[in-house]
Amino acid sequence: MSESSTGKISNVLIETRVFPPSESFANQAAIGSMEAYQALYDSSIDDTEGFWAQQATEHLHWFTPFHTTLQWNEPFAKWFVGGTTNVSYNCLDTHVLNGRGDRVALYWEGEPGDRRTITYAELHRDVCRFANGLKKLGINKGDRVSIYMPMVPELAVAMLACARVGAIHSVIFGGFSAEAISDRNNDAQARFLITADGGWRRGKALTLKQTADEALAKSPTVEKCIVLNRIGNQPAMQPERDIWWHDLIADVTDDCPAEPMESEDSLFILYTSGSTGKPKGIRHTTAGYNLYVKRTFQWVFDHRDEDIFWCTADCGWITGHSYIVYGPMSAGATQVMYEGAPNAPKEDRFWEIIARYKVSILYTAPTAIRTFIKWGDHHVEKHELSSLRLLGSVGEGINPEAWMWYYEKIGGRRCPIVDTWWQTETGGIMMSPFPGAIACKPGSCTRPLPGIVPRVLNHTGPAGELGDVETNHGGMLCIEKPWPGMLRGIWGDDERYRQQYWATVPHMYLTGDNARFDEDGYYWIMGRIDDVINVSGHRLSTIEVESALVSHPAVAEAAAVGRPDEIKGQAITVFVTLKSHEPTDEMREALKKHIRKEIGALAVPDEVRFTSSLPKTRSGKIMRRLLRDIAAGKEGTGDTSTLEDYTVLVRLRNDDES
Ligand code: PRX
Repeated sequence: MSESSTGKISNVLIETRVFPPSESFANQAAIGSMEAYQALYDSSIDDTEGFWAQQATEHLHWFTPFHTTLQWNEPFAKWFVGGTTNVSYNCLDTHVLNGRGDRVALYWEGEPGDRRTITYAELHRDVCRFANGLKKLGINKGDRVSIYMPMVPELAVAMLACARVGAIHSVIFGGFSAEAISDRNNDAQARFLITADGGWRRGKALTLKQTADEALAKSPTVEKCIVLNRIGNQPAMQPERDIWWHDLIADVTDDCPAEPMESEDSLFILYTSGSTGKPKGIRHTTAGYNLYVKRTFQWVFDHRDEDIFWCTADCGWITGHSYIVYGPMSAGATQVMYEGAPNAPKEDRFWEIIARYKVSILYTAPTAIRTFIKWGDHHVEKHELSSLRLLGSVGEGINPEAWMWYYEKIGGRRCPIVDTWWQTETGGIMMSPFPGAIACKPGSCTRPLPGIVPRVLNHTGPAGELGDVETNHGGMLCIEKPWPGMLRGIWGDDERYRQQYWATVPHMYLTGDNARFDEDGYYWIMGRIDDVINVSGHRLSTIEVESALVSHPAVAEAAAVGRPDEIKGQAITVFVTLKSHEPTDEMREALKKHIRKEIGALAVPDEVRFTSSLPKTRSGKIMRRLLRDIAAGKEGTGDTSTLEDYTVLVRLRNDDES
């Protein structure tokens, strides 16, 4: 039987480097050995509901205790039924009431260099005032509020204020167009939009209010628009509809008790791209989500009081929701929040920020890491990065060579790297090293978090039935049990939720990713199921071909896609961004030779195309779907002799891609 008929995916890249935590790191960690991890994990699996019930009792504040831990009516989960709590209370009031109000919540830095330090007591006051402002406008529990803002503290304030009064927020990334905003407003039937006059990005003023106005012309449900004055560009205001943030809170009090919310009341909707192009509103609820992001934050980042945490994501993505706002703030963390681009004014802005605030934990994305590699080590070497003790990665697979660079150049070989695998849908991190316990392997997200049971399935049975794959064989990554942070559905479309996530593999959540596990039980994500390349009946994962290319010293970034081929089924086209080398025919041949050596003849690309940049979604993922069209000759010039640039194409296309 050929591999394609069994559905197996060949595992072609073997990574053998292993990096255990140093003794000093392990000694200070909350979970400091493999035995401790295993004991915690086993207890979470032996009695999953008991485990989460105890976690919820210990780690959340309850106005009313819950009576039932889980009601599972597949595929609809209800966690901590009967209980009432409030996420904003857990993020703010808890700390203020515990005498920790003077702790710094945010060290915020604007792109032009303006800085603010905000304590938990101050954040609590700001959230209460803005929540009172929302009440003045007549907001009700369950109302939807769109938020379209730059990365300023008020973005977190707006989210927490919604949570405080029980409104459901839908944060829309500040780079999206009017069309994308009105689509989201209309799908959620939002009553309010919170925006700003603008924000700063690479030295340019983004005119957010102007874009919001265009969107509002096509958003009939939105009654009021609240506008923060961030850049002072005096946008046009419609007197009946628009109100300045500072006017709204001018005459309100600081007192706004948090509304007791049912555990399963919706906390937010976050839109993510779907295969149909129509954005999907992923719905997360109150108690389960709050518990999951708090505990995963503490476990994965081994968080301690003295840490300065910096997650470089934007709050417009799930990473910003879970690991800037709700997770770290529930844990009372001190964080850095930065408004702008990593190369404003120069390519060393991140390293300057780390040195200034003595950041100890940095959480960023592979796309950023590969960009830093391309910009050159000298930007890094200028700055003192010895405050760092832990590094994290999220959003895409991290190619082993990018992992090594991150480990050596940024972490100085002393910081473990937590490669965190998760999704908008999962709410929080699902697989990652516990940094004090689990040895890292570059490119692997290692092991599941407590309560999470991953399974890798494929058509392995004699008649093609679904079954678990063997060690080191790829297959569809699924999750077996419900977990507190899981999505509760797609806004307004239960059927789409069922079809997309629960119909392919019976009784399991389908992640849409391929993965394999190795002989040590480590998981390796192999890319999206739709991205697999099938060459002569061998199914190859995009990420393995790309990682082999990135291991060539001239290559900064690479994307591999399949294109139709009469003989082989699919042929491989790779799109390559070079560091500073010339895109010559010799280079093309050198890269083919490199792949032959690293993987084998099977994976040698038929076509190598050089590009100055790869098309990416707004959140930084390589858009292989678009590249597949280009490779198949559906778009593009076909002239591959010169350097190509797809950024224009992407600017036209990627509004609805997240
Ligand atoms: O394909 C996986 C990839 O990103 C997808 C989820 O994207 P999104 O919902 O935008 O959430 C991003 C932030 C969590 C996954 O299905 N992905 C995310 N993290 C990793 C990853 N792929 C490999 N390794 C990771 N660590």
